[in-house]
Amino acid sequence: MKTTFIVLEGIDGTGKSTQARRLAAWFESLGREVVSSREPTDGPWGKRLRESAASGRLSPAEELEYFLHDRRQHVAEVIAPALAAGKVVILDRYYFSTMAYQGARGFDPAEIRRLNEAFAPVPDLLLILDLEVAAAHGRIGGRGDTANAFEQRENLERCRQIFLTLQPEPFVRVIPCDADLDEVTARLQHAIRLAGLAPAKPD
Ligand code: TYD
Repeated sequence: MKTTFIVLEGIDGTGKSTQARRLAAWFESLGREVVSSREPTDGPWGKRLRESAASGRLSPAEELEYFLHDRRQHVAEVIAPALAAGKVVILDRYYFSTMAYQGARGFDPAEIRRLNEAFAPVPDLLLILDLEVAAAHGRIGGRGDTANAFEQRENLERCRQIFLTLQPEPFVRVIPCDADLDEVTARLQHAIRLAGLAPAKPD
């Protein structure tokens, strides 16, 4: 079965959510039914993860476990049924974020990938929205030289580098995001067309 399963990844501040919305509207204008979703989800595990991001209560191991629970439920209840129904699925974050963020917390990214690919389908196209950490961090309001801002930048740098290790894979495209929104959307659409997931541009 030919699926249209597209994942947007990248560090915080690269514009994934905005671009995911734009791509969903574009596919709809092409006559496709679209399911857009994100991780962590709004389900029970995702809620706990968002709460803990605010309160910082989960240990690294618990956090990893919660992301896996959240994703299992997401795959079973949302992703797999939508793909089986022939819909376009667009995700704002998926297991590559676990590789990057929990990898940055000390877990082995390759092992995280293995754990996930045991149950989570590999997307047809992974679009990594890439931006230098200083620029991305500035966009999320993390300027300054406080210890916390420095730590955040270091952490995002580790995440970015883990995302970039995926670049050689055939289903991955790294999209530079140091441009205005329309230009980045055009780059993403171009990559989607090249991957054969949308019709070529009419002349
Ligand atoms: P984010 O997309 O920034 O959500 P929000 O809509 O709340 O802005 O994701 C929240 C954070 O969760 C983000 O910093 C990355 C992190 N995250 C992980 O650490 N591991 C994961 O597997 C996923 C999906 C997200």
